[in-house]
Amino acid sequence: MRERVRAGEWKPGDLIPSERELGETYGISRMTARQAITDLVNEGLFYREQGKGTFVSRNKITQQLIRLTGFTEDIRARGQQPSTKVLSAQMSPANEVTAERLRIQTGQIVFYLQRLRLADGEPLAIESSQLSFKGCEKLLEEDLEQNSLYRLLETKYGLPPMEAEQELEAGLAGNEEAQLLKIPVGSSVLFTRRTTYTDRNQPIEYAKSVYCGNKYTFYTHMKREQLVP
Ligand code: GLP
Repeated sequence: MRERVRAGEWKPGDLIPSERELGETYGISRMTARQAITDLVNEGLFYREQGKGTFVSRNKITQQLIRLTGFTEDIRARGQQPSTKVLSAQMSPANEVTAERLRIQTGQIVFYLQRLRLADGEPLAIESSQLSFKGCEKLLEEDLEQNSLYRLLETKYGLPPMEAEQELEAGLAGNEEAQLLKIPVGSSVLFTRRTTYTDRNQPIEYAKSVYCGNKYTFYTHMKREQLVP
């Protein structure tokens, strides 16, 4: 089945054959066919719709972990239309964790931005960013539904995001996340925490994001260090 999807024989959005049909095609029991489908649903290759059947998922969005990119760039890179709904934009005091990440004092006022990020109108992630730099309160006046944050930082504020540290963690969608991302409560999600630095090695953003687990692939390229002879 994986090969059929890879070869483009089964396309995103296609209804896959029933367990019975698959059983007959591959000479396996219905139980085995069901298990194979479940495995591929869990992997994100297929998704189920109640009462309708199992379908091939859209290709996942790849966030590569080599070059520092923002959401808008990631989505455009795969030919989709990014959009944003601002859930909250305000000045608020940094808690201890944020203060440590941004190298500021606990309680210092930072710009807090919570956004729902979509691709072709489909919700993909909730991003909560906290930004701290001189004049960051000017961000309150920006139209952050129409503008990329990274682009604004670079072009208008002279603070190009140059480096970032990012942690990834698996988790399950809670009530609020499920509602915003339009996924069932308890679906798999990916949590990321990113600290973004400018060229002067100054942290400017600490962002916590929740990505739909079945729509994202994180890609990294690794090289083995020279082996000690
Ligand atoms: C990512 C990061 C966020 C960052 C965002 C910028 O997805 N997880 O930390 O704020 O990109 O994206 P954009 O430039 O589209 O606003």
